[in-house]
Formats: sequence, structure tokens, C-alpha cells
Amino acid sequence: MAAKHFVGALCLSAMLVGAGGAQTSAAAVTPTPAELHAAAMPTHDDTWWKHALVYEIYPRSFQDSNGDGVGDLNGMTQRLDYLQGLGVDAIWIAPMFPSPQVDFGYDVSDFLTVDPQYGSLADMDKLIAEAKKRKIRICLDWVVNHTSDKHKWFEESASNRTNSKADWYVWNDGKKATDAGVGTYQKKFEHDGMVPPNNWESVFGGSAWTWVPARKQFYYHKFYVQQPDLNYRNPAVEKAMFDGMRFWMDRGVAGFRLDAVPTLFEDPQLRDEAETGGVNAQGDPNLKDTYTSNLADVHAVMQRMRAVVAKYPGDRVLIGETYLPNTAALEEWYGGSRRDELQLPMDMLVGFPDRAGGKTLSAPYLRQYITEAETELHGSQPLFVFDNHDNERSHDRYNDGTHAAEIDKAIAAVLLTSKATALMYYGEELGMPTSTPTRVEDVKDPIGVTGWPKEKGRDGERTPMQWDGSPQSGFSSNGKTWLPVPGNYVSLNVAAEAADPSSLLNWHKKLIAMRRTMPALHDGGVVMLDTANSNVLSYVRTAPAGAKAVVVSLNLSGTPQTVSLDLKGAGLGSAVTPLLASSDGLMGATTVESLMLPAYGSFVAQVK
Ligand code: GLC
Repeated sequence: MAAKHFVGALCLSAMLVGAGGAQTSAAAVTPTPAELHAAAMPTHDDTWWKHALVYEIYPRSFQDSNGDGVGDLNGMTQRLDYLQGLGVDAIWIAPMFPSPQVDFGYDVSDFLTVDPQYGSLADMDKLIAEAKKRKIRICLDWVVNHTSDKHKWFEESASNRTNSKADWYVWNDGKKATDAGVGTYQKKFEHDGMVPPNNWESVFGGSAWTWVPARKQFYYHKFYVQQPDLNYRNPAVEKAMFDGMRFWMDRGVAGFRLDAVPTLFEDPQLRDEAETGGVNAQGDPNLKDTYTSNLADVHAVMQRMRAVVAKYPGDRVLIGETYLPNTAALEEWYGGSRRDELQLPMDMLVGFPDRAGGKTLSAPYLRQYITEAETELHGSQPLFVFDNHDNERSHDRYNDGTHAAEIDKAIAAVLLTSKATALMYYGEELGMPTSTPTRVEDVKDPIGVTGWPKEKGRDGERTPMQWDGSPQSGFSSNGKTWLPVPGNYVSLNVAAEAADPSSLLNWHKKLIAMRRTMPALHDGGVVMLDTANSNVLSYVRTAPAGAKAVVVSLNLSGTPQTVSLDLKGAGLGSAVTPLLASSDGLMGATTVESLMLPAYGSFVAQVK
């Protein structure tokens, strides 16, 4: 994977002038000229994951091949041609391992085979082989932080204090309920006069500590009671999990998405988390997350994991589920300038502003975080994502009630014209809405039952893929599927959108094709334009020698905006040839000197 650097058509000083405008709010760390210069430079590196479109599939909901109402591996194999046609380079399959399905697969009871409801190991081998024929790689979801309480490791560990797995999970004697300093919250979880050692809470509600009478001890679980945390201070645990990764890499998987990976370690002193005031949807006090997430100890494990993966040919990749507070924290997950940890920790700042301190999607917001990703990661490759199986779909999160279709297109344009590796979630290409249950008795996700009605769970973003207008939308032959097929499938489906030239599906296909074939989008640097504009995000993707630059202008406001983009600073003229626009009128534009963008309008053009 030799990296070759093109010195582009633009001279250094022009790029510095152009890129200098990329500085964002005073609050943002100001990149150095060298960092800005690097971001503006076209680079050519064929490493597959640097250009990939990775597509997340929730296995229960993509395609049911055997009529049981639940999606499966053979269903995915049947749909590979669709994924190839879309331009997908790799699939991340949410967990398909044997599981009691309390957290729909994120409670793994055996890491080394396939849950029978999704198929067999032979079906997985077939999926890997058929995908390979179509140049699609398969990545698995590696649930590193915890297992199911039905995993044989935990069953043994919980049986007494002296077994061979006694120290594979996080066990603690707790405190006497009468000890000084024990809070009222802890007292709610008293057993035999003992209470949890501290106030730590499960993300999914209640204490993070559960009592096991056979050991007269508590075990720690960051997530559901049925998801005990593994103890990474025990080298045997790390070895077992690394062996599992080898098992799957030997079968041909191209990499892993590491589930909940910032939570591998907890504070050894078990200090109480500080309360931040009020209670959450599950009725628990709101706490900081200082002592159970993103502890420094995790990085040594990531370095060793990277070394395991690096032994395999073909650039196997580690993708991280990394919700982090800022770009500086994200940078650490690459291993900083050493780049010896994850190749692709997810940048959740760009796509989930609501999780980055409740901010909203806007031109200044995206400009800031895209620039930071370009200039503050030591040249590492960013990974942008707007949708996944844990969050209300972006179609609804950013919908202003009037311009949902245009907003979906603008988001796709950010995702697919940026320099970052792109991660999509099934149905995102169609604008599938979130279909949240309206009655608690219909809810499948346990947090939606315990949190109702404040927290309705994650079923809404996990409904079956909408393939066509036939009953059950072509997802299943069963009249009753695990989650109902939303009624809007009649008109909102792959077949209908494939036939409509202005559909979101065709918008994605065009962007993906451009990203694959146009040198500026494939290899170009990024120079932000018109950086004081609070409504419109504009940038140019610089071009390698002999190729043409691409300019992108996205109105992220609900009112029409006229922009005047100065490409001279980037050493370019203002004459353009439109490539793609969200309204027909824009396709007639010949320059970007005075470009009228309708509300949430998107414009992508080649610079002449
Ligand atoms: C991750 C998964 C989520 C799961 C949790 C516990 O956040 O994406 O679906 O519930 O980890 O495994």
C-alpha cells in the first residue's frame, strides 16, 4: 500500500491562501499552516479502506430468505447485486453470533459461529465468497466489551470464586449498606446487607452492578444486566478475544467494527461518578462518564490488537464505535502520529451533533468539524457517519418539517464528497424514516419498555429494509416480521426509487460513482470556501495534476441563499460545469460567482 503524493496543479502559495480560509471559530484549535497545506494537497493512496463506502447491515432487518420473519445471511447474499450496484465496498454486519438476543445480538454467547436464526458457518463462508466476487468485503461487529450472561465463560465465572474463569469478568464484594458514604441510590440495590461498590449506572438503566448469590459478589455491566463486562486487566481475556478475531480473519473477513470499545476499562479505584443534575429517561441520576469510559488503559490493548490484524495480508481494518467529546480525543484512537491503533475510529462529531453537546447541524458546525478532521488527525483518514442502528435516522433528526428530501440530499453530499471514508446504514440511501412504535406493548428493544414513554427504544431505526411494493416489501414471505414493515413501503422502496431519476437512491448512486471515478473526489484535498457564511457550506476538492477540481456548495438553511465563491484564492477560475444539483435550475449554472441555492439546495460542479 505504497502512498504516492501528487504535487497538484496548484502552487503552494495559492493553496495556503485558499486553505487559510479554512480556519473556523476562535474556539476551534487553529491548524498550523503545514496542517492546512497537507489537507489541501491531493494524495494518492490506494489502500481500500481510505476510499471505501462501508454499509452497515442490521442482519435481522435486511432480507429474510427462509420466511421466518427475521433477516439472515442467505438473504444478504441474495441482495449482494443490489449492494454492488449501489457502489458499496464493504459491509459491516451487526452481530450475527449466537445470542439470547436480549440486545439483539450485542449479547454474544459464542464468538466463533453463527446464530442458527441467521444461518450457519457455511452460509457465512458463502456470503464472504460471493461478496468477494463482487469486490465487496465483509466486516464483523466485534463485541469486545462484554459477553452474554449465557456465554459459557460467564456461566463458569459466576459459579464460584475459584473456577478457571473466576477473574474473566469485573467482580467486586461491594460495600456494607451501613458503611459511611453509601448513597441512597446504591441502597436501592441492596442484597444480603451488601450494596454496589459505587454509584456507577448501566447505560440502559439501574445500577451497573448486579449481585450473584453463588459468589456473594457483584459483577459490573456497562449495558444490560445480561451483558457482563469482560475484565481486560486479565491477559487471558485479551488473548481469547484476539484468538476469536484470528478465527474470523482466517475465514476471510476484512475487518471489525469494535463495539462500545471506549468502555473496556473502569477506574481501578472505583471512584463515584459526579452527578450532573436531574434524572435520565430510565429514572436514574444523570452522571458524568469519567471513570467508566475512554480510560487511557484502552490504548495499549488497541495497539496490540492492531498488531494482530497487521499480521494478515490485505489491509484488514479496525473500525471503532467511538463517541468522543472532541477531535483531540478522536486523534488518540488512531494512536496519534504513531498511527498504531485503529485505522478508522468513527468520527461521531460530524454526523451526530446532537450527541456532541446537543448542537445542531449547520454550515459553521460542519465546517468546523470537517476542518478539524482534515487538520488535527496527523493526516489519518477520517470516517464520517450520519446513521446507525442506535439513533433516530438522520432523515428525522434533521428534518425541518418541510425540506426533508433536500436535507437528505445535502447530508449525502457531505458524506460522499468529503475526503473521509463513508459509512452508511441500510435504508439511508432511500430516506427510510424512523418508525417508532406507538404502543409500549409493541416495543422490542428493552430500553424502550423500561424507559417508555420518555425513551421509546431503538426499534424505529431497525425496521425491515423496503425493497419493493409487494406485501412485506419483498423483505419476507412471512406475514408477521420481527418488527413490522412500515406502511410507507408502498411508495418508499428500492424499486420505486430506482425508477425515479430524482430519487434519493439515484442521488446516492451518482455521488458514489463520482467519488469512485473523479480524481478530485477520490484523491483531492479539501479547501473550505466562503468561511464566514453561516448558512452555506462550500468547499473545493483540489485536483491531482491533469485532473479537474470539484466545487461543492450546500445550503444548510431553510431560506434561499446566494453565494459568491472565490476560487481564485485556490488558484482556480470561477467557470464550472455542474455535475449534480438538487434542483434543475442549478444545472444551468456556468459560474459560482453568483449562485442562487434554494432552501437546503445542493450543488456539485467541476471547475473548468
Ligand atoms: C453499542 C451498540 C448498541 C449496543 C451496545 C451494547 O453501542 O451499537 O446497539 O446496545 O453497544 O453492546
